[in-house]
Amino acid sequence: MGLKMASATKYSMVMQILSLTLCLLTLSCSAFTSKDYADALAKSILFYEGQRSGKLPSSQRLTWRGDSGLSDGSSYHVDLVGGYYDAGDNVKFGLPMAFTTTLLAWSVIEFGNSMPSQIGNARAAIRWSTDYLLKAATATPGTLYVQVGDPNMDHKCWERPEDMDTPRNVYKVSKQNPGSDVAAETAAALAAASIVFKDSDPSYSTKLLQTAMKVFDFADRYRGSYSDSLSSVVCPFYCSYSGYHDELLWGASWIHRASNNASFLAYIQSNGQTMGADDDDYSFSWDDKRAGTKVLLSKDFLEKNTEEFQLYKRHSDNYICSLIPGTSSFQAQYTPGQPKQSHVLPLFLNRLQELLIVLN
Ligand SMILES: *[C@@H]1O[C@H](CO)[C@@H](O)[C@H](O)[C@H]1NC(C)=O
Repeated sequence: MGLKMASATKYSMVMQILSLTLCLLTLSCSAFTSKDYADALAKSILFYEGQRSGKLPSSQRLTWRGDSGLSDGSSYHVDLVGGYYDAGDNVKFGLPMAFTTTLLAWSVIEFGNSMPSQIGNARAAIRWSTDYLLKAATATPGTLYVQVGDPNMDHKCWERPEDMDTPRNVYKVSKQNPGSDVAAETAAALAAASIVFKDSDPSYSTKLLQTAMKVFDFADRYRGSYSDSLSSVVCPFYCSYSGYHDELLWGASWIHRASNNASFLAYIQSNGQTMGADDDDYSFSWDDKRAGTKVLLSKDFLEKNTEEFQLYKRHSDNYICSLIPGTSSFQAQYTPGQPKQSHVLPLFLNRLQELLIVLN
């Protein structure tokens, strides 16, 4: 069940990114009406309201949902109310929740200007998570709370979060039991969100960035995978199969982007090679962040001419080309079938190719 959940979460994230991307790319594409994509975008953001844990606000639009998880953390004397449930179950899994937040924030950073009617909802979706992540990161010094709910017990019992009577165990990483993967992803989420709120709520933005730096320092200083520290409560559900190097580089890249702080540039330069920058890599997921890191750093190279990041652009070109049929380099394999819809993908990819040509 857990793995199915994982793929459901992945699917929703892919849909989220695709719908945001398509919305921008197809504005002048006659095969789609902009209204369909505006609707798809609105619904994909609304989805997150259905996943809310905690005390729901009066602005809640999915009114069939009620308050839930109101004593999360209380038996451990910490406030861990809020955040998002994973797809279809009642566990709050820190690693995919943080990654989802980073990607939501990235979407708003890149495409926020193209979604004036949804920007408020998109910011609210991000903040629902970052409010929780801030609590998880600051409740106890030297500790990051990374999960609420026992996945083995939870998965045996399918019930509404409002009715939940399964154990709400709390799991954490610490200096002695590190989790550089989940901590660095949390840092990435907080840093990316700090960019989103920079103009609309500067003091919140500052708090996000300062916390991101602290959590990153914790991730980097006390190294280890949370899969080793927490074993059967995170594996095989959201096991960190790719280890923690990819998240450290991703986290440092987001903090660099958010802060322009030279020590993070230096960190990326001196650690990039050992943390996966040199590998050509063809997937991007809640587990493996390398391809996304390269695209993020390429933007820095293209926009600010940060020479140090030229390598990342070359890798990003390879990655993007792997997704575009007909290029001579390594090709990603698409699932066969659905021939009637097959015109959609090449159209999308054509637009993507044009965009890349413009960027180049
Ligand atoms: C840059 O980051 C380093 C490491 O986190 C920190 O010690 C330093 O204060 C930061 N500098 C500024 C100007 O924020």
